Amino acid sequence: MPKPQLRVVTVGHVDHGKSTLIGRLLHDTGNLLDGKADELRAISERRGVPFEWSFVLDALQSERDQAITIDTTRIWMHLGEREIVLIDAPGHEEFLRNMVTGASDADAALLVVDAAEGVSEQTRRHALLLELIGIRQVVVAINKMDRVGHKRNAYEAVRAELEPLLARIGVAPTAVVPIAARDGDNIAAQSKAMPWYTGPTIVETLAAMEPIRRHDGAELRMAVQGVVRRGTDRIVVGRIEAGSLGVGDEVVLSPGARIARVKSLESWPGPAKGRAQAGESVGFTLDLPLFIERGDIVSNAAAMPGSTTLFRARLLWLGRRPLEVRDRLRMRIGTRLAHVQVEALERGVDITTLEPHDATNAQRNDVAEVVFRSRESLALDTIDEHPGLARLILIDGLEIVAGGTILASFPSTDPSHIVPVGHLLNREARAARNGHCGAVIWMTGLPAAGKSTIAMQLERRLHERGVQSYVLDGDNLRTGLCRDLGFSDRDRSENIRRVGEVATLFGDAGQVAIAAFISPSRADRDVARRSAGDLFHEVFVKADVSVCEARDPKGHYAQARAGEIPGFTGITGEYEEPLAPNLVLDTEHLSLDDAVSTLFHYVMEQIIAVPSPARSFAVH
Ligand code: ADX
Repeated sequence: MPKPQLRVVTVGHVDHGKSTLIGRLLHDTGNLLDGKADELRAISERRGVPFEWSFVLDALQSERDQAITIDTTRIWMHLGEREIVLIDAPGHEEFLRNMVTGASDADAALLVVDAAEGVSEQTRRHALLLELIGIRQVVVAINKMDRVGHKRNAYEAVRAELEPLLARIGVAPTAVVPIAARDGDNIAAQSKAMPWYTGPTIVETLAAMEPIRRHDGAELRMAVQGVVRRGTDRIVVGRIEAGSLGVGDEVVLSPGARIARVKSLESWPGPAKGRAQAGESVGFTLDLPLFIERGDIVSNAAAMPGSTTLFRARLLWLGRRPLEVRDRLRMRIGTRLAHVQVEALERGVDITTLEPHDATNAQRNDVAEVVFRSRESLALDTIDEHPGLARLILIDGLEIVAGGTILASFPSTDPSHIVPVGHLLNREARAARNGHCGAVIWMTGLPAAGKSTIAMQLERRLHERGVQSYVLDGDNLRTGLCRDLGFSDRDRSENIRRVGEVATLFGDAGQVAIAAFISPSRADRDVARRSAGDLFHEVFVKADVSVCEARDPKGHYAQARAGEIPGFTGITGEYEEPLAPNLVLDTEHLSLDDAVSTLFHYVMEQIIAVPSPARSFAVH
């Protein structure tokens, strides 16, 4: 069986001889067409310029019909049985872009340093980038040894400078090879000019490296690239990052933990098959019509990524202006583009010494640990779990301003280990004790329609009458139970689902749960209604958007008009009025007292009635 492919990213200061090394490497390993080097030599001679091995790369870039394929940043070559992809990263932007487009899920790195010039700032920055994206297998090539007379002490000097720096960021090079790329010394063959060096050649180190990608199928990960329609089928398309995917498998789509089974699998090129592995691009259909979009993560139920809106990342900041708390940026991670805001800046790393320090802002070229909040819930893996899906770039306008990795996000629970138990008390027993039944009073309406104000007054009046009651308020729950949720449609659905569940528990426990939530989507309210069953009473707190905007107690409408709150309900976010509410409170025309009284009497009437059967905790 051929050895699995190895991806090697080549980094180093622009003038330290990376292209020469690559050109020479291709030649010395027989990866160039016969006569290619001679042809380039002849061309150079005709033009009167000295031949350089880096011309090989230029030539390859301009030719398409080569035995080896090349795009601007990737070069495929063979070493015996092994295919190696060299990923060239000319500068930061390319490096960072590659990082997230997948080219960067490199197994190893080749770091080129000039023997005469030693470690430059760019070398340090590249080393940090390697560490940042989780590449631990690093081979250092100390190049241009011919310029320092092939002397051992020159090599040792650079090595002594570089190794402690790398050690500080947790990178221990697998080898530090003295080379003269131009002459082929220690590339494929041991150098005659440097007999003092007895370590491996570049080719030997490449042959000995191990790919990090896992092919064991235990933990599936795929970032959805898109959904393609074919007739009535919807084909989910993406590349498998880890594990495997087969027909009949149960898969989970995150965030939101939506579960379905794989109905069919198509992989291309080639015919449809039963199972696809890490590294393959596939399309598949599911047995349920789930809502799936670009950026979703496919996994197995046993090992889902955590879904969160709060996470810590490590960044190399390259923006022209410093990064500060509250800054808003776009983040690309996997195939998802998300909106994030800086919640806190924690640690920084000094680029010169690579020592950590406390940070309140991040300057250009700083490495910083930053806590972000995203607008929408994201399924995130950490760099330790799935490096290929934990790498991110930050975008400000059109510019890439940072690259980094996810260090921490929230864990998730495993629903398959849950066995509900029955209560020994029923609703009658609780109602007899309380002197009233439980209920879920669901108050929906625009921001500033009056929901919270009425809810709080109602709670007090019920309490004074000896009724067990408690307000579940949108803003309050979003500081705790729903802290990880934002205001995307999906997050609002999850917000209402959770609150619906909590309100139902209150109601089942014999309490009057007063839920005050915008809950703009009818379908979401229906989810809450379904959960609470006949405990549920929908109250529409009605006021025209112009009236709410004129009230604007929190100043949110003004902020929304200024474009500071995206998707603000009533302004840029839709509100679906209830079709058949149990009660309408028109706060445009009712006084606060009247509205509270109307609702109070309605609730009292409802909770005097005979309790309905208890909620079933049986498994459905
Ligand atoms: S809901 O839409 O998911 O039901 P919820 O009632 O929990 O919303 O929270 C509404 C509160 O969040 C508002 O009172 C306001 O303070 C705040 N908020 C922040 N962003 C938005 C937004 N885009 N739309 C509406 N409310 C928002």
